[in-house]
Amino acid sequence: MNYVGSFADALYEILQPEIDKATIEQLIEKPKIADFGDYAFPCFQLAKIRKQAPPLIAKQISDSITSPLIQKAEAVGGYVNVFLNKQMVTQHVLEAVLSQKQNYGSLSIGENKVVTIDMSSPNIAKPFSMGHLRSTVIGNALALIFQKCGYQTVKINHLGDWGTQFGKLITAYKKWGNEESVKKEPIKELLSLYVKFHDEAEKDHTLEEDGRAWFKKLEDGHDEALSLWRWFRDESLKEFSKIYELLKVDFDSYNGEAFYNDKMGMVVEMLEENGLLVESDQAQVVPLEEQNLPPCLIKKSDGATLYATRDLAAAFYRKNNYQFDQALYVVGNEQSLHFNQLKAVLAKMDFEWSDTLHHIPFGMMLKDGKKMSTRKGKVILLEEVLTESISLAMKNIEAKNPSLTNKEEVSKQVGVGAVIFHDLKNFRMNDIEFSLEDMLRFEGETGPYIQYTNARANSLLRKGNWNETGTISIHFEGKAHWEIISLLRDFSEVISNSMKKFDPSQIAKYAIDLSRAFNQYYGEVRILEENEELQARLALVSAVTIVLQESLRLLGLDAPNEM
Ligand code: ARG
Repeated sequence: MNYVGSFADALYEILQPEIDKATIEQLIEKPKIADFGDYAFPCFQLAKIRKQAPPLIAKQISDSITSPLIQKAEAVGGYVNVFLNKQMVTQHVLEAVLSQKQNYGSLSIGENKVVTIDMSSPNIAKPFSMGHLRSTVIGNALALIFQKCGYQTVKINHLGDWGTQFGKLITAYKKWGNEESVKKEPIKELLSLYVKFHDEAEKDHTLEEDGRAWFKKLEDGHDEALSLWRWFRDESLKEFSKIYELLKVDFDSYNGEAFYNDKMGMVVEMLEENGLLVESDQAQVVPLEEQNLPPCLIKKSDGATLYATRDLAAAFYRKNNYQFDQALYVVGNEQSLHFNQLKAVLAKMDFEWSDTLHHIPFGMMLKDGKKMSTRKGKVILLEEVLTESISLAMKNIEAKNPSLTNKEEVSKQVGVGAVIFHDLKNFRMNDIEFSLEDMLRFEGETGPYIQYTNARANSLLRKGNWNETGTISIHFEGKAHWEIISLLRDFSEVISNSMKKFDPSQIAKYAIDLSRAFNQYYGEVRILEENEELQARLALVSAVTIVLQESLRLLGLDAPNEM
């Protein structure tokens, strides 16, 4: 049921043809204060058309508007404030949630459309950084949200597995490396080989040349080079997949930069044919002056291709292979220039789909106000961060509910959920202060708070012997339930807004609001009291658990039944 739509219909009845329905819908507002009604229609635009005072028009409208859904309409200043028929809305909303269950709120905007989501994309032989964690968590939530809107999603892990650094790594491994240590702690060992290479290269200049030569061999498909590269890649992926398993994130494709090694020639040819390539300092670039951007480097003087060349090849490949409607790139804010250049080059090639590419930037993760970096040799192991969060969650559970049966599983859900929620609750461009203590609090704006609210609601359903089947009369005395109903009513609107803005935080905030509204209700009303309203209250509680669980799922969190 689309309530804004019905209000717009009722307005259109009396306002046509002065103003069309789409405009009416756009103008409708939601008053911040519940006392001003459920929706408001501002009359200022009509006032200009009619050359009448807005309050006068508001009065006329509120006197003549009729709809079974509208209980009352009031003229306040230049606004028509309407109050919905609470009984009717309550009935509609609860019936819809209870019958549709986890499909409640689903949309069909994206039917038959594909969205590719370039996400996570860590670099082989390097630690998985906080930025990659953010990309993984935000990308995963966006995929779930787009799916909820009917889109088909393709989650792509565009691994950083190609480039001159792999020539250096092979050189270093052949000089100083050892199989055993790489097997034991691959990332740590490969990183320290890489660091050693750079230290030694300052003294010995032939090393750089060796590195370049090995990368050349790699590009040409030399056996030993390829098998070392493949081994480094496999070992790194094994490490990364521990994090993906904890986060319960998977991918539809692991085609990283290397995958485009044989697909870049075509890109360079196309650019040449279009006369877009220009030589500059012996390198090949696409000038982007008119777009106010620095030139995009396509080929180095030694013929080597670059990050941008591979992203161009990837964009073509994805367009051809997936026929995407939108292509998202969930990558840190510091790469904005790169993605602007990528889009600008595609636009210069006259690909009209260049503006369906969206860079989804995000801010940094801070520790005590400073950037959390993976500086030379000093590695913050993300896996450790997650396991620490899990063990803190376990401690909380031991203290609060020691008799819980599946503590291991629940502490995983809570510990990991806490980290994910902490990332998603603020608009992604904001920097985040990393604090396990804050993330794991059971009160306030945290994942555990929402999970706990859901578990509490579930326990009420068990105690009240809630039985989903059978028809119930939905009737409430008073207004205590209304805030919950109006939040439940808005679920699909929140989902579509968060999809359009690429903004999972809108769903996180919604889950916080719904949890607060429920906990307030819990404090005010004796939910399990035996009277004629009991079944209606349990229906309300059940609807809350359905929508809370679905909100958590859309963010990538589990919702334990008990905790
Ligand atoms: N591997 C890159 C990095 O860690 C991120 C890749 C993002 N995706 C892309 N298509 N460029 O910085």
